[in-house]
Amino acid sequence: MDFNLTEEQQMVRDMCRKFADNELAPAAEHYDRTHEFPWDHVKKLGEMGMLGVVYPEEYNGSGMDYLSYAIAVEELSRGCATSGVIVSAHNSLCLSPIYYFGNEEQKKKYLSKLCTGEWLGCFGITEPDAGSDAAGTKTTAEFKNGKWVLNGTKNFITNGGVANVAVVIAVTEKGIGHKGLSMFIVESDTPGYSVGKTEDKLGICASSTTELIFDNCEVPEENLLGKKGDGFKIAMHTLDGGRVGIAAQALGIAQAAMDASVTYAKERKQFNQSLSNMQAIQWMIADMATEIEAARMLTYRAAFYIGRGERRHHSKDAAMAKLYASEASHRATHTAIQIFGGYGYIKEYPVERYYRDSRITEIYEGTSEIQRLVIASNVINSY
Ligand code: CAA
Repeated sequence: MDFNLTEEQQMVRDMCRKFADNELAPAAEHYDRTHEFPWDHVKKLGEMGMLGVVYPEEYNGSGMDYLSYAIAVEELSRGCATSGVIVSAHNSLCLSPIYYFGNEEQKKKYLSKLCTGEWLGCFGITEPDAGSDAAGTKTTAEFKNGKWVLNGTKNFITNGGVANVAVVIAVTEKGIGHKGLSMFIVESDTPGYSVGKTEDKLGICASSTTELIFDNCEVPEENLLGKKGDGFKIAMHTLDGGRVGIAAQALGIAQAAMDASVTYAKERKQFNQSLSNMQAIQWMIADMATEIEAARMLTYRAAFYIGRGERRHHSKDAAMAKLYASEASHRATHTAIQIFGGYGYIKEYPVERYYRDSRITEIYEGTSEIQRLVIASNVINSY
């Protein structure tokens, strides 16, 4: 077992850390307050190769390994969790299903624009009545006159308002549960495709979270992704990778909370001594540091195995990484506010934002309860 990062992984970490320190973190408060989509950051992330991290160079990707991708999301999220999720949802949820399940024509057509950031992507699975129960999708796709006609509404779609392409799941055969679901690549300028309500959220405020509405939206036959009836499996495979991205996002937020806490604890004096000299604070920092390292190990290990194409325990590894990292991030950001005291509760310091940003990592791409279901079923079935 070798815990050292490769030269390429160190290079990605250093590049993203520098970008996070110099550009993302200084602007994070602005974007949190204004809710403006950070187009300037997204453009630069495209130039840095972070919008097609693991995809081959022939499709304009950066051709890096999956661990490099997780490290990138971690470091970017340390500076700004909004940028972290934009990168994660784009790479993991839109590009991944096209790369793994698309045919050569689809890959050439879509990945080459998505990898550079010329186009942004999103993933349409969640619906008002199909959240944790992803197979409860109501959106339909009927084959008529050589086209797939989509009708229905998706909600809580990350990158929804800015995406040029959505990968969307819909019912192609009713009454047979998840086997009747298929996946489609839908361009946002297709007639009948529109963006509905934009959500006003607790955290990751500048990311675009919207409804997507399909009203007799005619999708070309060739935009079916994979085979008819494979939609649910494509979605689950996609979420296995996506959950590692969210684990990395949670990890980055937790690390930011610890960095701020230690710096503050060393500077802040009460009772004629630094907070960092007080055992109560030291214990908080010890717990934060230990949990962050444990979260990092789980996240990197899950990413490492995806990179090697080893899928045997992959759903379990990804679910464990997301479950632990998101809950550790919740605890770390909670503790950070405690260490800052009253200053942690006001917007002048970033820790209240970390706390708000962290909360969603326990919910999207499968709640903690769904991760526990996935882990338990994998463990029980392995005996
Ligand atoms: N890879 C491939 N196939 C898989 C799989 C995986 N990881 N997991 C399950 N499958 C297959 C099974 O083998 C099974 O196939 P067969 O019928 O051929 O045997 C089929 O899928 C059904 O499996 P289950 O019976 O286990 O499915 P289920 O209905 O019990 O549900 C679930 C499983 C884990 C609860 C699933 O519905 C789930 O993950 N729900 C959470 C949804 C979710 O994460 N939503 C997030 C939305 S995206 C988002 O949040 C984006 C964002 O904003 C950033």
